[in-house]
Amino acid sequence: MEKTINRLSGLLAGAALLGLAMPAAHAADAVKVGLMLPATGTYAKLGTAITNGFKLYADENGGKIGGVTVEYSMVDDESDPAKATENANKLVKRDAVDVLVGTVHSGVAMAMAKVARGTKTLMIVPNAGADELTGPLCAPNIFRTSFTNWQPSYAMGPVLLGKGVKKVVTLTWKYSAGLQAIDGFKESFTAGGGEIVKELTLPFPNTEFQPYLTEIASLKPDAVFVFFAGGGAVKLAKDYAAAGLKDSIPLYGSGFLTDGTLDAMGGAGEGLLTTLHYADGLDNAKDKAFRAAYEKAYGMAPDVYAVQGYDAAQLLAAGLTAVQGKVEDRQGMIKAMEAAHIDSPRGTFSMSAAHNPVQDIYLREAKGSVNPVVSVASKALADPARGCSMQ
Ligand code: BEZ
Repeated sequence: MEKTINRLSGLLAGAALLGLAMPAAHAADAVKVGLMLPATGTYAKLGTAITNGFKLYADENGGKIGGVTVEYSMVDDESDPAKATENANKLVKRDAVDVLVGTVHSGVAMAMAKVARGTKTLMIVPNAGADELTGPLCAPNIFRTSFTNWQPSYAMGPVLLGKGVKKVVTLTWKYSAGLQAIDGFKESFTAGGGEIVKELTLPFPNTEFQPYLTEIASLKPDAVFVFFAGGGAVKLAKDYAAAGLKDSIPLYGSGFLTDGTLDAMGGAGEGLLTTLHYADGLDNAKDKAFRAAYEKAYGMAPDVYAVQGYDAAQLLAAGLTAVQGKVEDRQGMIKAMEAAHIDSPRGTFSMSAAHNPVQDIYLREAKGSVNPVVSVASKALADPARGCSMQ
């Protein structure tokens, strides 16, 4: 991609020097999309849902996004930060993709963003919440269609305070997503007078929860707040219920705990209250159409990850449509993507100045296989984007 752009700018400069007419940019034959997502490991299901959502949008539009045929290059990033730079380079340098789409794991996404910044490749993050991506690492060519780790958790603080909860123990994996999610919750909960009794962590992706559950039982907080997702979330909810804690010490979390995981929990997730930017039973036409189309295409219900993948394609469509498919008109694409109002199944959202969704965060209560809305916990919540200076 960078090579192509360098070659192109060399030609343009040469033409200008010789006084030749500048060639007009023309619509590309195809847009090359590099999907870097987990296909194995604890986040494998999340990667599949994002891929499904992204491809659903293209398939609904005859295999095109913004009027341009899509060609995919795919890499399984295994949610392994140690392999992330090499994997991102495979897509950018070897496959010369126009757009990098990924990923789920915050640590992997941070390495991808460094490659995207270095090569000025357009990047759309369809999940990873690392606050840095739209904070200190923000850049004109980096967009996100999901959330910051801060957003869903920050919205839970006032919910628990409203229930009279005063003392909370937190539990999460010790990597940026978990730590930042806990920080978000802590910020609003302690600002309203709540106390964090203890912050428990275990290495990602470990699921040996027993010693932590024993400690929670002896600390006897009013409630527990967690960040877990995918396979780890399933195991945590099952172990929490099996330890007999579910009825005595209520468990809360950001919505990744119960999105796409309830069936596998086999009832252990029933009644859990979580906060997230998506919920079941939203009363909007876009969500109804999306859910019907997803079920028809893949034979299963979509979850938040599928929504984020679908919206990554919608955001790319906004950029490509504005430049009539001229992929090389990157400035035109960025301008249009910044101004986009995405008609998402979660409800319409806009982009903050740091390129992160400004969106409603819902309080949901798990019932059977779904997470229906209880209320809007935070309306049009924008991440504070601390440390972002866009240049
Ligand atoms: C993350 O690593 O940013 C993440 C992973 C799964 C769900 C939510 C966030």
